[in-house]
Amino acid sequence: MSSANRLRVAVVGCGLIGKRRAREVAAHPQTTLAWAIDLAPAAAAEVTAIWGGKSGTDWKEAVADSSVDIVVVATPNGLLSQIAASSLRVGKHVLLEKPMGRNLREALEIRDAAAAAGKVVKVGFNHRFHPAISEAHRRFSAGKIGSLINIRACYGHGGRPGYEKEWRGNAELAGGGELTDQGVHVLDLVNWFAGQATEVFCRTQSAVWPIGPLEDNGFAILMYPGVVVSFHTSWTQWRNVFSFDVFGTLGSLSVEGLGKSYGEEKLTQAVRKSEGGPPELEEIVYANDDGSWKREWQDFLGAILDNKPYFGTPDDGVAVMRMLDACYRSAGSAAPVRVQEDA
Ligand SMILES: NC(=O)c1ccc[n+]([C@@H]2O[C@H](COP(=O)([O-])OP(=O)(O)OC[C@H]3O[C@@H](n4cnc5c(N)ncnc54)[C@H](O)[C@@H]3O)[C@@H](O)[C@H]2O)c1
Repeated sequence: MSSANRLRVAVVGCGLIGKRRAREVAAHPQTTLAWAIDLAPAAAAEVTAIWGGKSGTDWKEAVADSSVDIVVVATPNGLLSQIAASSLRVGKHVLLEKPMGRNLREALEIRDAAAAAGKVVKVGFNHRFHPAISEAHRRFSAGKIGSLINIRACYGHGGRPGYEKEWRGNAELAGGGELTDQGVHVLDLVNWFAGQATEVFCRTQSAVWPIGPLEDNGFAILMYPGVVVSFHTSWTQWRNVFSFDVFGTLGSLSVEGLGKSYGEEKLTQAVRKSEGGPPELEEIVYANDDGSWKREWQDFLGAILDNKPYFGTPDDGVAVMRMLDACYRSAGSAAPVRVQEDA
């Protein structure tokens, strides 16, 4: 594609994730970086110095630019829905980072704005593009472990001293604590394997970091038809952990690690023998290069350019926010709650 025909992208928020997105935009032959926006001028300028485009501090300037086709929203959670909805209203496609806003209400607003605009909205659930996770899902869908019985998941890191001064420790900017931060990835993955949840029982703790009312730990039992899921997400997991175990009637698929500080990414398939005893094991270890961002960007472009099905649709995002909403309602009442499906 000639550079004149490339889709023009504005990245809003040039922190950890905005920089990753800008790198993929510039590396892809069908996209070019038009704008990098950050409240901190130096952060935006750092991005444009490497990957090109104009830098600025006001997201409204980039959204008003009629030559921009796509807006990537990588700001703190508190701005995601406002910037996404404003971009949709002027006809942009939008990739917004997870979570889909601070709460279910904001997620529904984004979903409705996407439907009215007829544009592609993708929620950044990059974990579906990690190789061990996507291969686990492929094998599960091919029937390698039989019918799904249950899932056990754990995701966490150790937070940081001073978390209460960061946006993640600020209820207004974050919307929630660790359930809203890393927990939503787990909820999305569980939905991908298990479908639609019916009931949730959740407890939270603000155990170590002074971020109350936000939680640094969330524990939940999620009920799906015929399937039970347990999960723990934590900012007091002193050694970083990602583990996702899917159990079926014939065997299991276990993902451990996501590379880098989460340890090598590994998929283990165990298939039980009809006579009992140790199962047949197969283990795949993946290279330590996180290609999920590249594959996720390709998935988004496939939807825009070729109308292909994609992950992280508004419905996927809303389904996660319904679960998150149920988790907080359950934790607040210390009782199991139904997942609301009426909105
Ligand atoms: N998919 C993932 O695995 C993953 C991982 C981390 C974060 N995230 C999500 O990405 C988003 C950003 O997280 P991060 O870790 O990059 O945060 P960050 O703090 O590193 O970066 C956020 C940036 O947004 C900028 N910003 C704040 N207000 C702004 C405004 N009004 N206009 C323009 N820029 C503004 C800040 O200056 C900062 O540079 C969050 O929604 C987060 O949940 C996703």
